[in-house]
Amino acid sequence: MDRQDGNAVETGADGDEAWWKSAVVYQIYPRSFADSNGDGVGDLDGITSHLDHLVELGVDVLWLSPVYPSPQADNGYDISDYQDVDPLFGDLAAFDRLLAAVHARGMRLVMDLVVNHTSDRHPWFQESRDPASPKRSWYWWRPPRETVDPNAADPTAVDPTAVDPTAVEPPAAEPNNWGSFFSGPAWTYDGASGAYYLHLFAPGQPDLNWENPEVRQAVYAMMRWWLERGVDGFRMDVVNLISKDPALPDGPLRGDGLYGDGSPSYLCGPRVHEYLQEMHREVFAHHPGRLLTVGEMPGVTVEQARLFTDPARVEVDMVFQFEHVSLDHGPGGKFDPRPLRLTDLKASLARWQQGLADTGWNSLYWNNHDQPRIVSRFGDDGPRHRVRSATMLATVLHLHRGTPYVYQGEELGMTNAPFASIGDFRDIEALNHYAQALAAGQEPERVLRGLRAMGRDNARTPMQWDATPGAGFSTGTPWIAVNPNHTTVNAADARRDPGSVYHHYRRLIALRHSEPAVVHGDFTPLLPEDERVYAFTRRHRGTTLLVLGNFTGEHVPVDLPPHWRGAELVLGNLPAAGAEGPAGPGPGTTTVLAPWEARVHRITATAGESTR
Ligand code: NOJ
Repeated sequence: MDRQDGNAVETGADGDEAWWKSAVVYQIYPRSFADSNGDGVGDLDGITSHLDHLVELGVDVLWLSPVYPSPQADNGYDISDYQDVDPLFGDLAAFDRLLAAVHARGMRLVMDLVVNHTSDRHPWFQESRDPASPKRSWYWWRPPRETVDPNAADPTAVDPTAVDPTAVEPPAAEPNNWGSFFSGPAWTYDGASGAYYLHLFAPGQPDLNWENPEVRQAVYAMMRWWLERGVDGFRMDVVNLISKDPALPDGPLRGDGLYGDGSPSYLCGPRVHEYLQEMHREVFAHHPGRLLTVGEMPGVTVEQARLFTDPARVEVDMVFQFEHVSLDHGPGGKFDPRPLRLTDLKASLARWQQGLADTGWNSLYWNNHDQPRIVSRFGDDGPRHRVRSATMLATVLHLHRGTPYVYQGEELGMTNAPFASIGDFRDIEALNHYAQALAAGQEPERVLRGLRAMGRDNARTPMQWDATPGAGFSTGTPWIAVNPNHTTVNAADARRDPGSVYHHYRRLIALRHSEPAVVHGDFTPLLPEDERVYAFTRRHRGTTLLVLGNFTGEHVPVDLPPHWRGAELVLGNLPAAGAEGPAGPGPGTTTVLAPWEARVHRITATAGESTR
């Protein structure tokens, strides 16, 4: 993509040259990025003042997590006004300044769109609490269930964090047995209404009823308003949950033994494709070729993703799938992690690469604001291997076919945080899980171990700009503690060190922009049974790239096909080529990868030659 003249090369979501295929997206979690006014919370002016870091990194698109007015029950994923900015982050004027500054630097800005649910403080929801209101059917209100199936989950089990203080009398039972994603039931009783409302997430996040065409039109109008203001697309929060089976039937008991799993009734529900096609017609079609749309889709399968991203169906450009970031979840779920098997990771990503090879497009990510830091998760965050393993992981990811997403701090090799006690956590998911697990008799230290490894707060500690006490994030008291390792892991030091994680990301992004095989090449997995080495090729016209990543702290020999002998090393992560092993595949057909080493080799065929 020509970064200074992006519009010139756009052909739209249905063209082969869609600009976002060669783009790299950088996610900003505004709360934790840069605080310009010393209140301990990041803000829009803070982002504007750090844009040059992103320009030098080379990214094309910024995705902002929500900055709309919100009670912040889920850090802004609970929106009370879709067409304004929360004073915590600034105002619409600050937003317009940021957008203009982003565009002036040849980048684009994508907003988070959270329309599976609103905040319970949204005027739509407040109005809907009156049973006679025309907005009643904008949400999922249901009367208490009087008769209770004795085989269902305990209908009286109540999460103390989910109790509605306005309830005037105890309800008979929730309308169905569904549990929420944030512990406790998916229903809260509202005394003023005499009914329960559905919330797949926190009680402060009631689900919108997309069956109602007025809801859909209100959402589309709001989306058009942002696009007319100049934003360049949307990352669409849990958008495969918007269509629900209106019968809302009980689900099978979940692993926690407390609640039913409602997902068969709402994961990629009956009308989801119809809604997304309607959204495309009503909103995206007015801006042909200009936008990037990515749907966050928990539980989506490759087959479903093909449908969502098939350009001929005009739904979304790409989806965020969750398979590869669920492979280390244990029998007790995400907070019961188990070690990753590399062969599982390779098999999963290869299926997605192959499943979307001809139709559709992949997004590529290790990190976002919901995932623990990748270097702590699949790499080694100790001082000896942090840089090497972070750069190896980056290389492997960015050389896949798809659009890579970099989450703030990932380009510095930021690590998980040393949370000492539950008091150090801020995330509603972590706090509710802790309360529910302890109430169920689990041992606190064991629960904390799960939260330390997998908790979302790991991603949300402040961006580490420099080694000063506030890490250059804030002059005030940050809303969540700065990771003490900011004295050695920070942007200022990384920018000065050519061997840093930051400069490696810069080189990877530059390679994507200069080497068409990175964007367009086909994908062939190699060594699928090897538990230590990740290997694949990408082939485009006469060029083949060979990508190797050592997922261990040991030296590992790799046998290569003979034609890779002496191939050019395009990119590697050793301090100096050859310092710890042969720079190229060497004279034989066996090469030895240093601990956590990554390499990208290239061969270019002369006419008629195969480069496989
Ligand atoms: C997915 C978002 O990424 C996450 O942060 C949020 O808690 C849920 N959706 C609910 O909006």
